[in-house]
Amino acid sequence: MSEHAIAAGSLPVAVRTPGKVIVFGEHGVVHGAPELLVAIDLHLQVGVASAPEFRLNRELASASTNPYLREALERFWPGRPPVAITTSSRIPRAAGLGSSAAFVASLGAAFGSASGGVARDTLAQSSFEVERGAQGVGSPGDTSSVVAGGCIALNSPVGTLLWEVASDDASWTVRRLVDPGWVWVVAYSGIPRSTATAVQQVGRRLAEPDGPDLLQRFRHIATAGIGAMVAEDRAEVGRRMVENQQLLVDVGVSHPRLEALLTAVAPVAVGAKLTGAGCGGSIVVLPQAGREGEAVRRLARAGAVAFAVRPTLHGCDVVGSA
Ligand code: MEV
Repeated sequence: MSEHAIAAGSLPVAVRTPGKVIVFGEHGVVHGAPELLVAIDLHLQVGVASAPEFRLNRELASASTNPYLREALERFWPGRPPVAITTSSRIPRAAGLGSSAAFVASLGAAFGSASGGVARDTLAQSSFEVERGAQGVGSPGDTSSVVAGGCIALNSPVGTLLWEVASDDASWTVRRLVDPGWVWVVAYSGIPRSTATAVQQVGRRLAEPDGPDLLQRFRHIATAGIGAMVAEDRAEVGRRMVENQQLLVDVGVSHPRLEALLTAVAPVAVGAKLTGAGCGGSIVVLPQAGREGEAVRRLARAGAVAFAVRPTLHGCDVVGSA
């Protein structure tokens, strides 16, 4: 487990951060419902070194249109000397697998280390603020997942309390669950999506007269799903994933390509659903035991970029010099 703080160090520094999948509760979590996330072994690595001017992967930072970079520099490194930031990543971008959360948390860990070290609860809060500043909307699920590693639940009474993350008008508890160690399959549809647009769309849907009923379904499914995960009941986790997918269809964030991928993998899946904001992006599959390879092949044949992924217990951490 990685509840230890990010240790003090000096530039150059390299940080490695996992991606994540949301097994239950995306969108509902923005409105206070529970969510379950697993950090996965697709990683992003960020190097930060002193330099004559601010750069991201050789591009001048002042010319960058990357809002996460701008927010992160303002928050984590205000008025400090220029640095060159380099990234390498196995997490597909804008795919719902945590690449922006991993980028932000990596920068927070790198600058935090170079500023005397940083506690993980502080890093979870500040990474959330940076991501929300860049996106304008959202919950702390993604950033807490990649900072904590392992399996975490938001807004659930189950598990061991790690920290609480707050915005101006809401707060979320973050708890650690024992991860059952299952292999998951993720598949990127190739359709990039905007988290902000999807979150706003669901916000409008939940403001309609049946919104409270929909939010109650988000709460119910995520609560039952978290219970099934803790009980290591694969069949029930799978059933709840399918139920969660129907709810995401009902609030309008599925996509024909995601539906096609879900159909392609169904014969070898215990359960499957979209993961992340939807409207494109990725699906997550709990494959039948021993049929992970077949699930990957079916999804690849259906046109997706598919991976078998394992949970990683380690959140973001300094791994050496840049
Ligand atoms: C995005 O990965 C998950 C959403 O619930 C947004 C958020 O929680 O910030 C759609």
